[in-house]
Amino acid sequence: MDQLPALAVLGGSGELGSALARRWAQAGYLVIIGSRTADRAIEAAALIGQQVRGAENVEAAKAAEVIVVAVPYANHAHILQGIRQTVSGKIVVDVVVPLVPPKVSVVQIPQGGSAALEAKAILGGRQGCFRLS
Ligand SMILES: NC(=O)c1ccc[n+]([C@@H]2O[C@H](COP(=O)([O-])OP(=O)(O)OC[C@H]3O[C@@H](n4cnc5c(N)ncnc54)[C@H](OP(=O)(O)O)[C@@H]3O)[C@@H](O)[C@H]2O)c1
Repeated sequence: MDQLPALAVLGGSGELGSALARRWAQAGYLVIIGSRTADRAIEAAALIGQQVRGAENVEAAKAAEVIVVAVPYANHAHILQGIRQTVSGKIVVDVVVPLVPPKVSVVQIPQGGSAALEAKAILGGRQGCFRLS
């Protein structure tokens, strides 16, 4: 890859997503913050810097070559279903940890084996790589 790929961080307004977005932007990547609302995405992007854009999650995923999913497990499947058609052939990096109330400090292995395996099942396995956690 001659040029750095564009990265979308879905949930990039959150704690982990914004930290990743900041560091990738500092490293020279075009970063697109994804959010459930475009306004929040644009606001979060502006806090990071001028080279960072913001868009609603699906639009952010469309605009990027690598998509990072950094949302709470409670909304993981829903967000993935929303980008299913968009991410075919792209790289998806899933950093979601299956923390389920009421024990949100304890990882609870989900039915699908892991959050990443569940992501792979939802997305249909047409993506490049997954973090297996
Ligand atoms: N924080 C860490 O150090 C860390 C480390 C390893 C892994 N993780 C995992 O990474 C994921 C994100 O963690 P985080 O700490 O960044 O979470 P967070 O601060 O709560 O942010 C997550 C973002 O997800 C979006 N979101 C989508 N659906 C949501 C819903 N139903 N409720 C609340 N927010 C929702 C929100 O953005 P919009 O409102 O803009 O859509 C929010 O800003 C989690 O799965 C977590 O387990 C976190």
